[in-house]
Amino acid sequence: MAELRRPLIAGNWKMNGLRQDSLLRVENIVTALSKISNSTFETLICPPATMLGMISSSIKGSEIFLGAQDCHPASSGAYTGDISAEMLADIGCSHVIVGHSERRLAHSETNKIIFEKASSAIAANLIAIICVGESADQKADGQTKNVILSQLSASLPPHSTSANMIIAYEPIWAIGTGVTPNKYDVQEIHSMIRENLSGIVSSANANQTRILYGGSVKPSNAYEFLSLPDVDGALVGGASLNWEDFMAIAACCLDRE
Ligand code: PGA
Repeated sequence: MAELRRPLIAGNWKMNGLRQDSLLRVENIVTALSKISNSTFETLICPPATMLGMISSSIKGSEIFLGAQDCHPASSGAYTGDISAEMLADIGCSHVIVGHSERRLAHSETNKIIFEKASSAIAANLIAIICVGESADQKADGQTKNVILSQLSASLPPHSTSANMIIAYEPIWAIGTGVTPNKYDVQEIHSMIRENLSGIVSSANANQTRILYGGSVKPSNAYEFLSLPDVDGALVGGASLNWEDFMAIAACCLDRE
């Protein structure tokens, strides 16, 4: 991987955890990180919205970034139950995941909605982590590349740059299943994404944009993915709920130097 892209290890906790255990998990991550001299990788945690305030306080002074799992496209208004990007920035978030497949599927989020959410995140000075990835059926139909290319071209705001946007490639069939693509397929898709980004955000930005892999990343397979030239980190679901596994995944970034 080119040095200009510092890998990001991001934990997506999804709808898991209550405050006490979550605080303990964060404290363990803060302590573990303080023991490594780390200029090699960045760490991000994306807890449920209920814990953003508490975790924002508990990571103060550490190198951990805080992210949310979703935001509303509007900055305020009559949207019962929703949270805006501006509010996330206000509580201490630096990142927000948009377009996760679980939201695309369970909340009928289209590329257009993802585009609006990413635009609003960027306008609030957040880094938008835009998720793309094919379903098992689309893969079986040989549609993987088309699906990803259309998600990219329809979801990326025109003012996105390597500084305010990260792409996460997450094949839906690999999420939470324990099944992963092989490393050659992952590299091929990531390099296709980067090549395509050149046409959307300029080739300089494409070279600097981080592209994360997500889908059943675990300590046992993380090194294999993280050592690929176009993989610039991981979006970790299940394994991020265990701080030791999360740190073991992050530590693979140290080994790849
Ligand atoms: P998983 O989830 O690591 O549990 O497969 C990844 C994700 O959904 O971001």
